[in-house]
Amino acid sequence: MSFSLHTHTCGELRAENIGEQVTLTGWVRARRDFGGLIFIDLRDREGLTQVFFDPDLCDAEVFKAAETVRPEWPILIEGEVRHRIEGQTNPNLATGEVEVLCTRVEVLNTSKTPPFQIEDHIETSEDLRLKYRYLDIRRPKMMANLKLRSDFTFALRQALHDRAFMEVETPALFKSTPEGARDFIVPSRLQPGNFYALPQSPQLLKQLLMVGGVERYYQVAKCFRDEDLRADRQPEFTQVDIEMSFVKQDDVMGALEEIFAEAFGKMGVKMELPLRRIQYWDAMDTYGIDKPDTRIGMELHDVTSIFAASGFKLFASAAAAEGQYVKAICAPGAGVWGRSKIDKLAGVAATFGAKGLAWVAFKADGSVQSPIAKFLSAEELDALKAEMGANPGDLILFAVGGRLETDEILGGMRNHMADVLEIPREGHDFLWVVGFPLVHWDEERQAYAAEHQPFTQPVEADIDRLESDPLSVGSWTYDFVMDGYEAGGGGMRIHNAELQMRILKLLGFDEERARAQFGFLLDALEFGAPPMGGFALGLDRVCMLLTGSDSIRDVMAFPKTTSGGDLMSDAPSPVSDDQLDEVSLSVR
Ligand code: AMO
Repeated sequence: MSFSLHTHTCGELRAENIGEQVTLTGWVRARRDFGGLIFIDLRDREGLTQVFFDPDLCDAEVFKAAETVRPEWPILIEGEVRHRIEGQTNPNLATGEVEVLCTRVEVLNTSKTPPFQIEDHIETSEDLRLKYRYLDIRRPKMMANLKLRSDFTFALRQALHDRAFMEVETPALFKSTPEGARDFIVPSRLQPGNFYALPQSPQLLKQLLMVGGVERYYQVAKCFRDEDLRADRQPEFTQVDIEMSFVKQDDVMGALEEIFAEAFGKMGVKMELPLRRIQYWDAMDTYGIDKPDTRIGMELHDVTSIFAASGFKLFASAAAAEGQYVKAICAPGAGVWGRSKIDKLAGVAATFGAKGLAWVAFKADGSVQSPIAKFLSAEELDALKAEMGANPGDLILFAVGGRLETDEILGGMRNHMADVLEIPREGHDFLWVVGFPLVHWDEERQAYAAEHQPFTQPVEADIDRLESDPLSVGSWTYDFVMDGYEAGGGGMRIHNAELQMRILKLLGFDEERARAQFGFLLDALEFGAPPMGGFALGLDRVCMLLTGSDSIRDVMAFPKTTSGGDLMSDAPSPVSDDQLDEVSLSVR
């Protein structure tokens, strides 16, 4: 490709270009005046080039123009590439050996003084960065993030295309097909009182594509979920959505592993195949979470039996009760903390459902400090130390209660302690968590809720317990976990209308509501739906982890704030009464 306004990018010139006549376009990053000489750092998305103006070597009006330019003005310069003078080369800059001796400059536009400096590592609020996102994107780090995202998406597309996956677009204006979040709804002008829902994912549509015979589908799909936002959650995000038919779970997971390994490999991240698979309950019991970061150690231990005859009644009665556990984690080095600092951990544990937090600190001098020390025998402490592999200076944290309850408390504490103790996390940690329960009990709704989604295939051998003991029914499901984040999820689908209706009933739908909401799916399943399964990769989350960002906002060009707003355009914003009239709505 060649361009009429420039011959090279600002990141391109090297020693081998010395002597060439070049034209560059970009933004003025900085202008430095040095006793009659002017240096301008010119920036475009590829990098920086130093441009040099010498009044003895350029026309007076060129020099004068150079004196007027200000940061963030876009300019065009023409000149000769020269070696920088001795001592002025910059090994940290790709173009640091050369500079351009400018003979012509053209101001393409002016710029107001930007509200923050267009540099990495700037001290400015995220709100300001979001308000002027177009300036934020000029920063090298943001530009690199967007570039990585583009490259990774392309690598995935290529890996999928090479394996005969077809990209098929599905509508954004569709019907509510819940995936566990609230829908964004769009009023219909042509059918007053009726609404579209923006898809929480293309789940049902991709299943219908399988019924349609597409066989191998993918889509880089925008998904919309009206849920509470966090650093790894946006109301509008992107999935690389995949579905296959005439397959079993291992076929899907095998294909996905190949595709991941190839695409991550292109990003310089080596993935050893096959990926580790951890059963859901093993993940919960070992790490206390269904998306474990296995790099941080601190595994959960069931220490119930150690305290069967304990003088500490809470532990002893848990040991005596059916389905009650005493579990523990060992936080390396936290045993040297002062008592008040350790006591504050109870507040953190409460956020994960704990009613209190028992702890034992093995002090560096060999002594034991603990609010429950007086109830524990020397044998119990020795057995605990051995079971936990605790060293002097370590802190043991306990949880008491049901299986899931203790897992979740310690899973939360494990991640918290890893952050506080700054436990190093080298490289990336990839694994599958497989075999989620089909449903869980939703306390709030007082109903069973799908663990993954309502279209998941139950384990065949468990189907006769669907009504009698639903919590014991397994499912064909797999989550792709990267560095302690749920980076993707999928499963095999129900391809039988009768079974699908049974599951919808289990989830609290009566026949009429099930048909009203999912009639089109139930119909389609009666027309020779093939066995099928698939997956969706959370593209934003993976890019966040690949770029080492703290939030998915940093890998999205125009993200929303945690209150769902766009600070640049002020969306969401009121609409006119006329617009409301057109869709037969009024605002209360
Ligand atoms: P699931 O709901 O698990 O599965 O979503 C798949 C992946 O999408 C990402 N993700 C999000 N990323 C950013 N912001 C959000 N609000 C958000 N919600 C989810 C996560 C998640 O793992 N249809 C199924 C997939 C399937 O079964 O094929 C689905 O959507 O990384």
